[in-house]
Amino acid sequence: LAFFYRQLHSSSNPASFGVAFDIDGVLLRGSNPIGGSPRALKRFYDDSGTLKVPYVFLTNGGGVPESKRAKELGSLLDVNILPLQVIQGHSPFKQLMRRFENELIVAVGKGEPAEVMSEYGFKNVLSIDEYASCFDNIDPLAQYKKWTDKLDGNQSSKSKHTALSNDPCSQRVAAVFVVSDSVDWSRDIQVLCDILRTGGLPGKEIAHQPPLFFANDDLAYQALFPSERLGMGAFRIAVESVFNAIHPAALKYTSYGKPNPSVFKNAETVLMHVLQSCPTNHQVDGRKQFFKTLYMIGDNPSVDIKGARQAGSPWFSILTRTGVFKGKENHDDFPADLVVDTVEEAVDYILSKEC
Ligand code: G3P
Ligand code: MG
Repeated sequence: LAFFYRQLHSSSNPASFGVAFDIDGVLLRGSNPIGGSPRALKRFYDDSGTLKVPYVFLTNGGGVPESKRAKELGSLLDVNILPLQVIQGHSPFKQLMRRFENELIVAVGKGEPAEVMSEYGFKNVLSIDEYASCFDNIDPLAQYKKWTDKLDGNQSSKSKHTALSNDPCSQRVAAVFVVSDSVDWSRDIQVLCDILRTGGLPGKEIAHQPPLFFANDDLAYQALFPSERLGMGAFRIAVESVFNAIHPAALKYTSYGKPNPSVFKNAETVLMHVLQSCPTNHQVDGRKQFFKTLYMIGDNPSVDIKGARQAGSPWFSILTRTGVFKGKENHDDFPADLVVDTVEEAVDYILSKEC
């Protein structure tokens, strides 16, 4: 271990700290880097581009597999990122793979929700776009949605799948996963209510609700528009309100993502793996390494800061002013350990304290 310390920082103990970066409102707004984020991240690499400080991206966002997100972030932020370093809101869904491995599941949201779930090992996945197209007239407003593409050219999922002996369109949906933000709320709320109130067989009788999972419960997040945008938590409220108004039993669901303490526990484990994957990490005698401080840099007090505070030691929370939080002082309900203007300032603080 001593050798490892010498290799990385002569005057610091790199294994004693790690960093978790929120993405939206800290590193990026939309696809635009903010707050000096490329410069800030570069300081965690040596001159040859080798990682010297263990860090992860801890976002509630998602919609593409972690491997693809690592590439996208790498090119936006101009650093080399390992898929291991990307923890998205839906990353914990892979733990549910064994439970639903071969059963039909429906994946909702922007991007490539079905590819995300397939990459986690789920064998029988349809995106809600594919699933909705199994049913003629399921969305009475479809004809007014001029933006929708026909799947696979002109072939709908219905004709594509009914040719198969094991047509997924006629199978019971065992679970629904909201992987990323819904693109078409009216269609998705309609189809989700159809699936959930019929036990997974739209158009059939009322039956027991299949499990429903959300990747996060963010009411709002910071994108390119000056004020916050409605997030998955707002969509959840919409689904829940409509479902509860048309169904005798209240909607049951599970939400993942920050601020759940399990997300921070998992980030700690991942950071340890990132540390072990640092090329210059020479663990001595298999001795257990540990982090004295883990920094969470976020923009959303009720998500990032609340989560880090709840997770307790060794987490230290840093709130930036580039996203959801725009106050002068600290946040009243979820005060951070430190408030700074930008992520670059946060990294300056961390390195001056640790090195
Ligand atoms: O949809 C993204 C949003 O919910 C939050 O992303 O990176 O701020 O956790 P992030
Ligand atoms: Mg954020």
